[in-house]
Amino acid sequence: MNKKNLVVFSAIQPSGNLTIGNYIGVLKHWKKFQKFYKCIFCIADLHSLTSLNKENILDRKKSILDTLALYLACGVDPNKSIIFIQSSVSEHSELNWILNCNTNFKELMRMTQFKNSLKNINNNLNAGLFNYPTLMAADILLYDTDKVHIGKDQKQHLELTRNIAIRFNNCNKNIFKIPDFLMIKTGSKIMSLLNPKKKMSKSDKNHKNVIFLLDNSEEIFKKIKSAVTDSNNPPNIFFDPKKKPGISNLLVIFSTLSGISLCDVKSYFLGKSYSQFKNIVFKVINNCIKKIQKKFFFYRKQEELLIKIAFEGAKKASFIAKRKLSEVYNSLGLLKKF
Ligand code: TRP
Repeated sequence: MNKKNLVVFSAIQPSGNLTIGNYIGVLKHWKKFQKFYKCIFCIADLHSLTSLNKENILDRKKSILDTLALYLACGVDPNKSIIFIQSSVSEHSELNWILNCNTNFKELMRMTQFKNSLKNINNNLNAGLFNYPTLMAADILLYDTDKVHIGKDQKQHLELTRNIAIRFNNCNKNIFKIPDFLMIKTGSKIMSLLNPKKKMSKSDKNHKNVIFLLDNSEEIFKKIKSAVTDSNNPPNIFFDPKKKPGISNLLVIFSTLSGISLCDVKSYFLGKSYSQFKNIVFKVINNCIKKIQKKFFFYRKQEELLIKIAFEGAKKASFIAKRKLSEVYNSLGLLKKF
């Protein structure tokens, strides 16, 4: 099959605080995907409402535009791909409801991300957090998606999406295409700098754990300098996430940004001290982030252009989504006229 006929879907929750982990695991690959696939890139603003608090109500519009500008800065091209904001295409919310009615409560209870929220937020947990995966399933299933590009932590949500779609198809003809994973092996999970057993997260309260795409050089330098390594003497720089989680995390960052493979890093850093190693890692990160920032600020200044791109993308997305939703409504005997 001509790959260009395959639809790739991906989304990120809006935040001006996207991290080097978001970049390496997800964003970095979108530019080249555009050459091979029909790409649909969404800004999942409705998902971000699940972490509603005072501060981010004021910042939401800014975060959405920041994210859009970051997509463009990373090489997503609105002439090649559909870029849109989730809330602009109301079919997502409509299909979400229908999928909720086809999802078992127990399936949602099993979701690790939800269970972690339950542990961490417990007494202020909103129902949106529980239903989060069915909205994600709606995002994916509306577009006859062949491949969903996700980081490792979202794998379980995609498995659930597949199960929901298969079950729905069994009762209602083959309405949904069953989506596959598109996961990049190296770098799909970048870890925290001070605690390399935990995923790097944009919502981490300790900013020393995280390199943000909008950090300045000085901040990046300090964060890399304070990143956990180990006390091997003489220093030993090679990839082994179990025995050397801190070093291995920095090596993954280095390798994915420099193009030097994880097999070659050992000889590349042979004889270097940890401090020299960190200087080199810093330089690679800093170069990459500076390039992104330059383009980011170029687009971010042009708010009207950003809004135009998002709305034109929404029109294209809506055209596809409506068609699918009308099939779903018909199959359920609902009488809405599309
Ligand atoms: N839940 C995803 C995340 O936090 C974002 C997302 C929303 C998504 N809808 C999606 C990813 C659909 C892939 C497909 O990373």
